[in-house]
Amino acid sequence: MQTVKIGNTNWQTSNIALGIMRMGTLSVPQSVAALQAAHEAGINLIDSADIYGNDPELGRGSSEIHFGQALKQSGLSRDDFYIQSKGGLYANAANQITRYDSSKEHLIAAVDGILRRTGIDYLDSFLIHRPDPLMEPEEIAAAFDELQASGKVRHFGVSNFNPQQLELLQSAVSQRLLVDQLQFGLGHTGMVDFGLHTNMTDQGSVDHDGGLLEYCRLHQLTIQTWSPFQYGTFAGTFIGNPQFPELNRELAKLAEKYQVSKNAIAVAWILRHPAHMQVLIGTMTPAHILDSAAGSDVTLTKQEWYDLYLAAGNELP
Ligand SMILES: NC(=O)c1ccc[n+]([C@@H]2O[C@H](COP(=O)([O-])OP(=O)(O)OC[C@H]3O[C@@H](n4cnc5c(N)ncnc54)[C@H](OP(=O)(O)O)[C@@H]3O)[C@@H](O)[C@H]2O)c1
Repeated sequence: MQTVKIGNTNWQTSNIALGIMRMGTLSVPQSVAALQAAHEAGINLIDSADIYGNDPELGRGSSEIHFGQALKQSGLSRDDFYIQSKGGLYANAANQITRYDSSKEHLIAAVDGILRRTGIDYLDSFLIHRPDPLMEPEEIAAAFDELQASGKVRHFGVSNFNPQQLELLQSAVSQRLLVDQLQFGLGHTGMVDFGLHTNMTDQGSVDHDGGLLEYCRLHQLTIQTWSPFQYGTFAGTFIGNPQFPELNRELAKLAEKYQVSKNAIAVAWILRHPAHMQVLIGTMTPAHILDSAAGSDVTLTKQEWYDLYLAAGNELP
């Protein structure tokens, strides 16, 4: 398992992380098995969010409750993992998300809730989950200062922010923002398409993100890529999916060459980009976790990277 330096720090973590968004629907023994597989594979970063899991009995946050119970029963310790979570989405009494809320009060309560559900006493990093149009950067700054001073959070970052939103927030907070978590993978290549189609008039030339990829590289922000095996937004996985015959043929060819799984090749495709991204895998099946993690040690050639990009249905101008 290879490591990646987070942001502009010397903090090194595995370049593949386990996201626990889907842990809320598992039993505790299944959650234990997922954690043990991640640890066996060398994964040492867990990504969560306070709203993950919506178990009918446990409600919003059930993923973190299962994670906390699984960590205790797994034989693993808190120190085996860096633990990151996100907050800033408000769910009402019926567990529906009805607004984004990055007020100081909400963010501090969110971290307290995360620590309570997971049973840990600090987070290695805390991210603002989505940009709130009503955000007051000074309020977020006050929340970050209090969370850091109290020892509840060590590092900070964001998720789904564009460059201007990053700059706005960074102008107010005293901590360096280290991470922007964004959807990216062979089923969602927008951040690359835009750069390839500059000054053209086709669909690829539409700027959906404000040049985030280059911005993050210039400002040493680590891009954590969510849903690396999905197409659309949670529409399903492209791996082994008959809707993507060409992509699966190419994945299978390279899987054969490198003696790994298709998942590993899809991970290697993201890691081949020189931005030094970190891949957040969300599979909860131990065999798929181990298969995916093997992608950390595969370095695709430039031609293979382009072959996969084209097989995913993209064009080169
Ligand atoms: N910041 C944000 O806004 C945001 C949004 C979404 C997600 N995230 C983060 O990103 C993490 C990953 O997201 P994700 O779970 O959507 O990513 P993902 O890893 O792309 O998707 C996981 C899903 O794909 C399935 N899958 C993977 N490999 C498969 C295979 N070979 N065959 C069949 N099914 C396969 C998994 O099923 P199995 O379990 O059966 O393998 C699971 O249902 C989340 O846990 C969360 O931490 C962040």
